[in-house]
Amino acid sequence: MASEGHEQPDGVEVLETDRRDLTRTRVERSPRQPLDPGEVRLGIDHFALTSNNATYARLGDELGYWELFPALPPWGRVPAWGHLVATESRVAGIEVGDRFHGLVPMATEVTLSVGAAGGHGFTRVHRGAAAYRFYRRLSTDGLEEADLWRQTLLRPLFITSFVLDRDHARRHASTGVVLTSASSRTAIGTAYLLTGRGVPVTGLTSARHVATLRGLGCYTQVLSYDDLATDPTALRVRPGEQIVCDFAGSARIRAHLGAALGGSLAAWIRIGDLRESGDGAPDEGERFFAPDVIAAQARDLGPAAFDAELEQALDGITAWSGEWLAVDAVRDAGALGTAWRSALDGGIGPTGAVIATLGSLRRADDSRSSPD
Ligand SMILES: NC(=O)c1ccc[n+]([C@@H]2O[C@H](COP(=O)([O-])OP(=O)(O)OC[C@H]3O[C@@H](n4cnc5c(N)ncnc54)[C@H](OP(=O)(O)O)[C@@H]3O)[C@@H](O)[C@H]2O)c1
Repeated sequence: MASEGHEQPDGVEVLETDRRDLTRTRVERSPRQPLDPGEVRLGIDHFALTSNNATYARLGDELGYWELFPALPPWGRVPAWGHLVATESRVAGIEVGDRFHGLVPMATEVTLSVGAAGGHGFTRVHRGAAAYRFYRRLSTDGLEEADLWRQTLLRPLFITSFVLDRDHARRHASTGVVLTSASSRTAIGTAYLLTGRGVPVTGLTSARHVATLRGLGCYTQVLSYDDLATDPTALRVRPGEQIVCDFAGSARIRAHLGAALGGSLAAWIRIGDLRESGDGAPDEGERFFAPDVIAAQARDLGPAAFDAELEQALDGITAWSGEWLAVDAVRDAGALGTAWRSALDGGIGPTGAVIATLGSLRRADDSRSSPD
């Protein structure tokens, strides 16, 4: 199992990012503090790194991501989705060895104040969105490390794909969809679900990702941003209304796409912010915030029915992604810093992903991956 041999360094080690220059990182070490009643200490077995984390950092001030795991300014702790193991507990209902999935700092361990704990997991005492405060209890029986990694990586991304697809089915039936940054994992999952319902889906992506995306088979049509800029008629969408799911958040792409769609543009859903600031899309369209939509859909459908539908969709996507998604392991501070900068500049390719296990972070020689 992944947690066997889970290392317990003497203190806590965490990767911090300079909020003024996200490419700068350092490893901060601090002594372990005794637990207060209501607190649990959890070792962080592993966490996933994608551009999603880069967006958490870019929107850290706007959407409160820096507040989830506070650090001394100018440093910030970028949240990541991870797999945790309770190592010490002063919470009724959480035993040492219990496993959870939820948001973590990029660290060796984390101490959380628990509001409520039960069979499904626990809720952290925090002001953040419900989805960011909940830690889902995991049963790891029979799961190999690769399965656990895949769950950690795919679940947080594809829950967004899942609610986007449900939202589209409810509000727009079979209206065609255009996805920007079509090579992001969340876009790929969304395309997979939409195409599975027979919805025509166009993917817009960088030229270097076109062939890979065509090979995945989840898009009806794949075009590069350059193709669209040079020839707007290359966008062969069915006449009628089109919904844009905008993962790129780029004003330039938006302008080209808006011109190509003309009167066919029915709705613009702003989901991602993958491009550097300065190229951000203007504040038009509806801002999609997954935690709110997840909460609303779970409320409407009932939590049990929502979970059952989600698990079914995840099973399908997980099996399909096994055909093309290659997971890289990162085990030390230097490699994590490099992977982080790669996530920042879009360098983690569509068919790759990074899983970090920082039990070994304390053994890294150099705590600074860029000069202070
Ligand atoms: N609003 C919400 O509630 C919500 C929920 C979940 C995810 N999201 C957002 O959805 C987006 C996708 O997340 P993900 O984790 O699925 O991403 P991902 O798989 O890591 O995305 C990788 C892709 O993003 C594009 N990209 C990333 N950084 C770039 C850069 N600096 N310059 C140019 N292109 C870059 C490239 O796609 P192309 O070449 O195809 O452009 C790249 O292949 C993120 O912005 C994330 O925060 C939002």
